Amino acid sequence: MKILFIASEVTPFSKTGGLGDVAGALPTALASLGHDVKIVTPRYQDVRNAGQLLPTGQSLVLRFPFGETGGPILSARLTERLEVLFLENEAFYGGRKGFYGDAAGEFQDNPRRFAYLCVGALQAAQRLRFFPDIIHLHDWQTGLVPVALRRGFGGTPLAKAKCVFTIHNLAYQGHFPKRTMDDLGLPWDLFTPEGVEFYDQVNFLKAGLVYSEALTTVSPTYAREIQTAEQGYGLDGLLRRRSHALTGIINGIDAHEWNPRTDAFLPARYGPDDMTGKAVCKRALLERFGLPTEGNAPVFGIVSRLAWQKGVDLLLETLPAALQADLKFVAVGNGEPGLEDGLRALRARYPKQVGVHIGFDPELSHLVEAGADFFLMPSRYEPCGLNQMYSLRYGTVPIVRATGGLVDTVEGGLDGNGVLFESFHRSALLAAIRRALSLYADPARLGDFQVRGMGKDFSWAASARKYEALFSSLVEE
Ligand code: ADP
Ligand code: GLC
Repeated sequence: MKILFIASEVTPFSKTGGLGDVAGALPTALASLGHDVKIVTPRYQDVRNAGQLLPTGQSLVLRFPFGETGGPILSARLTERLEVLFLENEAFYGGRKGFYGDAAGEFQDNPRRFAYLCVGALQAAQRLRFFPDIIHLHDWQTGLVPVALRRGFGGTPLAKAKCVFTIHNLAYQGHFPKRTMDDLGLPWDLFTPEGVEFYDQVNFLKAGLVYSEALTTVSPTYAREIQTAEQGYGLDGLLRRRSHALTGIINGIDAHEWNPRTDAFLPARYGPDDMTGKAVCKRALLERFGLPTEGNAPVFGIVSRLAWQKGVDLLLETLPAALQADLKFVAVGNGEPGLEDGLRALRARYPKQVGVHIGFDPELSHLVEAGADFFLMPSRYEPCGLNQMYSLRYGTVPIVRATGGLVDTVEGGLDGNGVLFESFHRSALLAAIRRALSLYADPARLGDFQVRGMGKDFSWAASARKYEALFSSLVEE
């Protein structure tokens, strides 16, 4: 099959979270199954590996009611068979830091920026004569694609494509004032409760959910949760109506990037048969955070966007009690200023037990995964979550709230591989940390937990097959 991916971030070029990882790894897995795949994404000013981007000789000029705008199409290879196309646009993606917003908040021109991605990706495919069977879309930034496809490309070879829309996070929907309809030239007949209208605003995510042929989300549990009022963010009714078209497919991980036997970011490598390298990583982690290395206290780590979703506020409430025990805590994250300040204050209060790095640092994230004994994910909700899978692979026991994809990937119980807790409450999280401490006090049992986790196969192979089956069923229809 020919498959066109459209995504607002793609690892290793751009990443703010798991979406980037998935948009890099899933197309790679599908291409290795023999499919002809291309990815289209914005050329942000701050893409990594910018040296790999080469001109295609093609460029776009798009006409919207707000004006004419365009720029060159660049190209890079993720693998020999897999090309990533970057849409350059000086006004929309150049000249600024951040992909979606900056310290002042969300960028005001996001509707135009991502309308450009949606229409531009289709134009780019047409220009390069790549006519996909499937267009795979990800999150609100790509929600206008099925609308643009139906309204703007009828009668062209692109029109035969089927759209599959993957929800990575239902809480981010792209709500914009209704004047956006005129600004972007969206037909007003779509502005209805059955269409893109949502409480008198335009909702980009809803456009994707209403007009795509098939919907997926990133774990079976989250697929059920988003059909409830508590977790549906106002779209549960629509998702229940479309439940026949909605499936949950668990994310995989890039098993080459995240492999403790080969990880080039680590000072020592290891596997389940020989864990001595993990102790070297733990020491390096403590040194990196300026924490004392003597003694044998367990290290608890987080690597996270600092957002409401992640329950970092609950962690900040709970840690002072937990830190009465002999344990250390290290955090790598950035995001909401209040949570960043909360972590800095914790560090100031417990300088011998707490290490904090505010920022986005992939190398350090590998060291935390390898050097910590436990990895904390007290999420309010978690569509899939990747860090708990990285942790399992690195013999770092995850402590997770029983929600979304965390339930589908971490096994609790006495012969499990992680620690689960139910209630989003301080006492429940504290009890989970205490369970981890008693596990740590029993090295044989801890070793069994680690080995069971490290033996799990979280590679993309199985999930890529599920996407492949879904795509084939649509193409055959
Ligand atoms: P989400 O996509 O909701 O942020 P996931 O667990 O799916 O959560 O994915 C998060 C990804 O982003 C992981 O690969 C994680 O290591 C990475 N990440 C998050 N914050 C940071 C950070 N501050 N530095 C480096 N990597 C980070
Ligand atoms: C979102 C979710 C996260 C998921 C990721 C990749 O950012 O918050 O749980 O793992 O997308 O699908």
